Amino acid sequence: MKKDLLTLRDLSADDFEALFARSFDLKGRHGAGIPDLMLQGRTLGLVFDKASTRTRVSFEAAMIQLGGTPLFLSAKDTQLARNEPIADTARVLSRYLNALVVRTYSQGLLEELAAAASVPVINGLTDLYHPCQVLSDLMTILEKKGKLNGLKLVWVGDGNNVAHSWLNASAILGLHLVLACPEGYYPKEEILEPAKKDTSGNIIVLSDPKQAVCDADVIYTDVWTSMGQESESDLRKKIFRPYQVNQALVDLAKDDVIVMHCLPAHKGDEISADVFEGPRSVVWDQAENKLHMHKAVLERFVARQ
Ligand code: CP
Ligand code: NVA
Repeated sequence: MKKDLLTLRDLSADDFEALFARSFDLKGRHGAGIPDLMLQGRTLGLVFDKASTRTRVSFEAAMIQLGGTPLFLSAKDTQLARNEPIADTARVLSRYLNALVVRTYSQGLLEELAAAASVPVINGLTDLYHPCQVLSDLMTILEKKGKLNGLKLVWVGDGNNVAHSWLNASAILGLHLVLACPEGYYPKEEILEPAKKDTSGNIIVLSDPKQAVCDADVIYTDVWTSMGQESESDLRKKIFRPYQVNQALVDLAKDDVIVMHCLPAHKGDEISADVFEGPRSVVWDQAENKLHMHKAVLERFVARQ
């Protein structure tokens, strides 16, 4: 039976471990120039209804480097834009392609597409989750810190789609995750509460960023206004101003803290330019690791079993 990756809750702790091990292996082989062609003859469709640089290009490059073929489909250029039902589209694309990566607004729409598709469907970001982002971010933390457990991971900013995937990862891996979000911008209760219940670690949500980052090993931030929320941008800029990750905030964390951002970044808003460009920032390695993790994801979900 086909397996989808719609949220990180679709993975077990063992699945995470296997993806970490394989992504490091593939990164090493890529660096050594050793070809891996396990996706020869496979075709991946990328159905994107929102902008993307990293997720699109890293999945496309991963597919090509593994011997397969990516096919980018801007949703607005398909019949989806003229109201062809999502389930019909899914059934047709399943006849042509071996798997789909989908970036769209509604998680419900993604689930509907996955239910109708007979090929694996991978979530490339919805309003609710960004699972592949957090998989590669975990790889980056492992690369920099050598472990996940025992670290204090602090999310600063909006309780958004990326934060929700962090909650899911924490639930499964038992991480120590602290989220500092303005009141009214906390993660959704229906994602936060099950994560708190299921984790063997510690999940805390509070509104004071200074309290949150005290002794942090990792500080993570993301845009204040996610795709689809553009009309709220002015209000959000005012509300989130105290949540900027700047040097004064970073100074409250451990000396060897790493600062992460999934990108694209708005320097001067959620992160100051000096921190973004500074020695604690790992954003470029973080972006690179999307390539290696996406290879591991594709191998697992798209290769012939
Ligand atoms: N981090 C991330 O998903 O970037 P893109 O929106 O450019 O894909
Ligand atoms: N939270 C951001 C992530 C972009 C990669 C958004 O959804 O726009």
